[in-house]
Amino acid sequence: MHKLAVLTGGGDCPGLNAVIRAIVKSGYQEGIEVIGIRDGFRGAVEEEYRLLNLSDVSGILPRGGTLLGTTNRDNPFAYSTLVDGQIQPVDRSDDVISQLQGIGVEALLAIGGDGSLSIALEFAKKGLPVIGIPKTIDNDLMATDVTFGFQTAVSTAQDALDRLHTTAESHHRVMILEVMGRYAGWIALYAGVAGGADVILIPEIPYELSRVAAAVKKRADLGKKFSIIVVAEGAAPLGGEMVVERKMPGRIDPIKLGGIGAKLGEDLETLTGMETRVTVLGHLQRGGSPNAADRVLATRYGVAAVEAALDGDFGTMVALQGQKIVRVPLAEAVNKLKKVSPDEPVLNAARKLGIMMGD
Ligand code: F6P
Repeated sequence: MHKLAVLTGGGDCPGLNAVIRAIVKSGYQEGIEVIGIRDGFRGAVEEEYRLLNLSDVSGILPRGGTLLGTTNRDNPFAYSTLVDGQIQPVDRSDDVISQLQGIGVEALLAIGGDGSLSIALEFAKKGLPVIGIPKTIDNDLMATDVTFGFQTAVSTAQDALDRLHTTAESHHRVMILEVMGRYAGWIALYAGVAGGADVILIPEIPYELSRVAAAVKKRADLGKKFSIIVVAEGAAPLGGEMVVERKMPGRIDPIKLGGIGAKLGEDLETLTGMETRVTVLGHLQRGGSPNAADRVLATRYGVAAVEAALDGDFGTMVALQGQKIVRVPLAEAVNKLKKVSPDEPVLNAARKLGIMMGD
């Protein structure tokens, strides 16, 4: 093994640079050259590469984002291409493989979530040696206990809840924090527990508005004139729909969520008569420096991915299971999301504390 390529795909998250650094540094120890591909699979199609030296990764451990750039568009198997004056999806996967082989790349390390790793799996099926590395703040990838980026996002949301608590208490208000989490409520659940929320609403448990209102009123009746609610962007009322901010054709997941916090705020104000304010945490959750747990996890993933490449263990993803980093078939990680299950221990703990989960 002499030459690897690495790309970061999908939404960014804290810890991407830490993984890239670990790949370059541990690769260097083994005499491996690492080629960085710009902007995920777009750069793989467009042949935008650069050699990553030790100096390129010096000082990047604490830096959020990705020095390679990323995108949540651009699937090489349906790549937007101008054909006869019209933009059409064209399969450019063969080009990607021959281009990478042409520059002597022996394996591709793809750092991504469900969307990017599904593309990586398609490349693996075509014979490209691929190893996946699980990232996403949403923590919704199967086959791994945790994705890197999640723990930092939870800390950010918890910090926001701590701040909202003080102002909620002063003004006797209901404070709603809308956090990310399209189809899985991991951030809302963990941040809600860590931040002492009174109500946590997640996509996996459709909420009953009247019950949420009753829980808030009950607190007020007991003398707690404020309430803290965390709602995941993908949460929805029983019998209702997720709130879509806008449709974004061309993206790997073509809907942009957002607005459930505002809807819930209006509904609760009407039902309870209590003054309500809504904060949307948005991309603050994705930005900034990774915390210590994510730096360690990202570093372990990067090192493990290089080891997998040296062993020729392709078509796999490095994963955390218990305390160990293991390799799992890429196919086990994608095409199905890891959601909060009814027997999830943290969910159980939340319920035992009396946190209202919407049902
Ligand atoms: O996949 C991570 C995620 O943070 C989702 O929770 C969120 O819906 C999405 O990315 C937003 O992506 P963007 O604004 O980059 O399109």
